[in-house]
Amino acid sequence: MAHLAHDPNKQPDNLRTMQLASVLPMTASVVDGSLYIAGVNASMLASEYGTALYVYDEEHIRTQLSSYIKELRSRLGNADVAYAGKAFTCKAMARLVAEEGGWLDVSSGGELAIALAAGFPAQHVVVHGNNKTVRELTEAIKAGVGRIVVDCHEELERTDAIAAKIGVSQPVLLRVKPGVVADTHEFIRTGAEDSKFGFGLADGSATAAVKQAMKLSNVQLKGLHVHIGSQIFALDSFVETIFVMTAYLAELRDNLGFMAEDLDLGGGLGIAYLAADAPTPIVAFAQTISDAIIKSCEQNSLTVPRIIVEPGRSIVANAGVTLYTIGAIKELRDIRTYVAIDGGMTDNIRTALYDASYESVIANRANEPRDTIVTLAGKHCESGDVVAIDASLQRPQVGDIVCMFATGAYCQSMANNYNRQVRPGVVFVRDGKVREVIRRESYEDLLATDVG
Ligand SMILES: Cc1ncc(COP(=O)(O)O)c(C=O)c1O
Repeated sequence: MAHLAHDPNKQPDNLRTMQLASVLPMTASVVDGSLYIAGVNASMLASEYGTALYVYDEEHIRTQLSSYIKELRSRLGNADVAYAGKAFTCKAMARLVAEEGGWLDVSSGGELAIALAAGFPAQHVVVHGNNKTVRELTEAIKAGVGRIVVDCHEELERTDAIAAKIGVSQPVLLRVKPGVVADTHEFIRTGAEDSKFGFGLADGSATAAVKQAMKLSNVQLKGLHVHIGSQIFALDSFVETIFVMTAYLAELRDNLGFMAEDLDLGGGLGIAYLAADAPTPIVAFAQTISDAIIKSCEQNSLTVPRIIVEPGRSIVANAGVTLYTIGAIKELRDIRTYVAIDGGMTDNIRTALYDASYESVIANRANEPRDTIVTLAGKHCESGDVVAIDASLQRPQVGDIVCMFATGAYCQSMANNYNRQVRPGVVFVRDGKVREVIRRESYEDLLATDVG
C-alpha cells in the first residue's frame, strides 16, 4: 500500500507534536499538517480501514524488545525477555517476538493457542494464570512449554498429575508474593501479601510449595517468579524485590538444598501516557536491576541465576495509537465540551478502569496548536464511557480524525463487545507499508457464536 507513504525526501515538520515526543511512536512525524506513522498517513489509514482502528509502529516494538534483550544480556550474560502477551497479542506479534529472539508470556489457553498457531517455539513460552484449568494445563504440557508458573498448591499437584499422565517432567517456577508494595494503581499492584496471586513468603506457603515441588517426580522446579505490579516509575520497588528474593533463594539453598536456575522478575516498567510523564528508559532499568542482582547475589554467595523479565506495556504501549472519527460535538457552556468518537470503552476501557489519561491530536491538522480542552466521549450507553477527560486538542470539527497516543497496551487486548459493538481492526505499519494483522469484526462475527 505504498500510495499511503509520504515523500521520504521531504523534511518532517514536527513543530507542535515534538512536545509530545515521549508518548509518540518513534517513527511519528508531521508532514504538511498531517500525522504520519512509519511514513504512512494516519488519516488515509482511517479512510482505508475505517475507524476505530489500532495502528502499531512495528519498528518501535522491535526496538523496545531488542533493547531489553541487549541491555540485560550485556550486563548479566544469562537473561531472557518474555514479552507479556496480555498487553497485546496476535499471530503477527508472536512471530515478531520470535524473530527478535524473545520468549513469550501467555496467561490463558487462548493466548497459548495464538502463539502456537503463529509457530512460536513452545519451549520459549512461559504460562501464567492464578487458576489454570485442567484443559489449559494439559494443552500447555502437551505443547512442551518452557515454563509453567505455578500459582497455588492445588495447581502444583494438578501439574504433576497431568505431566505424569502425558509422561513428561514439566519445568516449573513458583510464583511468590515478596511482600513489596509497588507505587502504582491498586488494581495493578500484585506483590503485596494481600494479593490473589502466588505463594506468600511471610506466611510460609512459598517454602511449603518449594518442599512440595521438590518431592514431586513429574515437575522440575527451576526457580521462582515475582511480579509486583504494572506502570511502575520508581525502580526502588524492583530493587527491594530483588534483595528480598535473593535472600530467600539463599535461605532455600541453606535450609533445603534447593538451587534455583531461574529468577523471573515479571514485568511492570512504566511508560509515558502524558507528555509530562518521565518513565525510566529501558537502559536505566537494565542497569539498575542488573547492579542489584549482582550485588545481592554476591552478598548471599549465590551464583547469579538466569534472569527472566516479562515486560508488556513498555514494549507496545507507545508503539500503538488508536484512530477515531469525530461524529458530534456538544459544547456545554461553563461545564465542558464533549467530543463524541466512534469507539470508547469497548476499545479502551483503561480510563473507566484506572482513570487513565491520554494525549491526542487531530491527525489531519496535527501542526495546529492544541488550544482547546475537550472530553473525548465514547458512543456507548454509560456516562463513564469517556477515554480522555479535559484533554488538549486542536479545535475539533465533525469528521476530523483523532489520533490517541500510547494505546498499544491493554486496549485491544481488553476490547469487548458491549452494546454489541464490533471490535476494531489492527494494522502494523513499517517503512511506508501497511499490513492488516487483525481485521475489523463484522456483524457476522457477532452472530457466529449466537446459536440460540
Ligand atoms: C505475571 C505478569 N507478568 C508480566 C506482566 C506485564 O506487565 P507490564 O505490562 O506492566 O510490563 C503482567 C501484567 O499484569 C503480569 O501479570
